[in-house]
Amino acid sequence: MAVVLHCNDGELRTSAPAGTPLLEVLREQAGLTAAKPGCGTGDCGACLVLLGARAAPGATPVYELHHACLTTVAMAEGGHVVTAEGLVGEELGPVQRALLHAGAVQCGYCTAGLVVGLTWALLAGVEPRRAALGNLCRCTGYGGIRRACDVLASHGAWSLGELLPAGTRAVAARLPVRAPQHLSLDERRWVAGGTDEIPEHRHQLVAHRRPTLLRRVPDLGGIAGEPRGLRLGAAVTVAEIQGSALVERRWPGLAEHLDRFGSPAVRAAATLGGNLVHASPTADLAIPLLAMGAVVVLAGPHGTREVPLDRFHVGYHRTERRRDEVLVAVRIPDPPAGAVLHLEKVAKRPHDDIASVSLAMRAVAVPERRLAAVRVAAGGVAPTPLLLVRTAAALEGAAGEVDRARVALGVLGAEIAPIDDLRGSAAYKRALLGHLLLAALDRWHPGVATAVLLDGAVAPGGVRPGVPVPGREQVPVGDGIRCGEGVRPR
Ligand SMILES: Cc1cc2nc3c(=O)[nH]c(=O)nc-3n(C[C@H](O)[C@H](O)[C@H](O)COP(=O)(O)OP(=O)(O)OC[C@H]3O[C@@H](n4cnc5c(N)ncnc54)[C@H](O)[C@@H]3O)c2cc1C
Ligand code: FES
Ligand code: FES
Repeated sequence: MAVVLHCNDGELRTSAPAGTPLLEVLREQAGLTAAKPGCGTGDCGACLVLLGARAAPGATPVYELHHACLTTVAMAEGGHVVTAEGLVGEELGPVQRALLHAGAVQCGYCTAGLVVGLTWALLAGVEPRRAALGNLCRCTGYGGIRRACDVLASHGAWSLGELLPAGTRAVAARLPVRAPQHLSLDERRWVAGGTDEIPEHRHQLVAHRRPTLLRRVPDLGGIAGEPRGLRLGAAVTVAEIQGSALVERRWPGLAEHLDRFGSPAVRAAATLGGNLVHASPTADLAIPLLAMGAVVVLAGPHGTREVPLDRFHVGYHRTERRRDEVLVAVRIPDPPAGAVLHLEKVAKRPHDDIASVSLAMRAVAVPERRLAAVRVAAGGVAPTPLLLVRTAAALEGAAGEVDRARVALGVLGAEIAPIDDLRGSAAYKRALLGHLLLAALDRWHPGVATAVLLDGAVAPGGVRPGVPVPGREQVPVGDGIRCGEGVRPR
């Protein structure tokens, strides 16, 4: 059966299997070669396109940034695909002119992706430099790209008419409402944002009839307040969590922290359910949610059940979910009065990278410089995202804050089991997590990190600074990049 896509200023009809990457159809069937094949895994941004959808009759279509290499034909069906070709009218558009005049175009391989990404930024009111974080330029022309971003940012708000040529605007104006999908529990093959599923199972997806697209199932969307917390639909995206006022009011800082999750195009597609079900030990939503005390809601042929998130991940990429169950929602209890959530992520690159180690800590400061309601979670130090129950208990102890920190660091060392891998040696991750815990504690007890670090007797992760460890001459504590507040380990 042919699939019809609205594309630039016209229609695109394809009989390619529904799981075929959009990039392949654009380039090989439609002859639209501006979007380039680069990494094929969502890492370089050369294939970026806009995908517009109208949610309800009369509503303005909303355009999201998508990697055409990670978008299937079925995911684009009924939407409006806009490639760099669709952004050129009689003359070059403002983004193309800015890149040209700033000397940001060399071989041009990354340029079409940049044009689309920056156009999305101007449409969505996102700072252009931030939007360009997911675009790699193999010619390394970043100086010119930054200059072009600054010129675009200095203009103020842009209208749709300035950014989309007349033909593309006309298709946007008559875009029909997108048909929703219904959840079929018999299907057992689900795709949400596809940012894990497509790179890992691309070939099975092309062969598969039509997996249910969870982002199109209305019941799996939305963020709503409950009597004592929040309920987030499993198909809510990282970008939607970042944009939610309900989340920001209860958990300030989470949205900003999630800026370190992939790139804007990854955040537009990646869902909460996908992050938890894929069950990576470094899953960037799982770590804060563990510290926040989240519960997952699973629905299957035998009904619905709730599982605390700390019991959901049972092994490396394995969860408590049965094959015929779908994760429908995540419930997050309201934070205890006075609670603060502290978040840390260390990766090899500041943006668009998976964590080497991450930490989330929630606690309430109580009289006599004590802590209560402590929950600590860590990523990258065990086969699963890990709730550090014993470390949290040590932090609630009665001793002074420096002694408590020392005890907690010892307990932490026994509670984790990192391995050597591409993101660092086990020793490095141990030391790093210890430092991240100290940085978190400094938020509640300023100066405690310095006091512990100056005392050579106990060191984070059980490794003394300056003591050689196997495989490394020196433990390079804190040589990654981290966000959050507190002490910056060097
Ligand atoms: C370039 C790039 C950068 C990335 N950066 C990060 C990062 O910084 N941090 C991070 O944590 N992750 C990162 N990821 C990984 C990925 O984006 C996340 O894990 C994301 O949340 C997965 O969600 P998804 O909706 O894309 O899942 P999908 O790929 O659609 O699905 C993943 C798996 O979960 C299943 N599934 C999805 N939803 C449900 C549900 N509701 N019920 C049952 N099963 C379900 C699918 O069938 C599939 O098996 C990155 C990925 C890419 C490609
Ligand atoms: S080809 Fe690199 S992000 Fe799609
Ligand atoms: S200009 Fe050559 S890849 Fe960017």
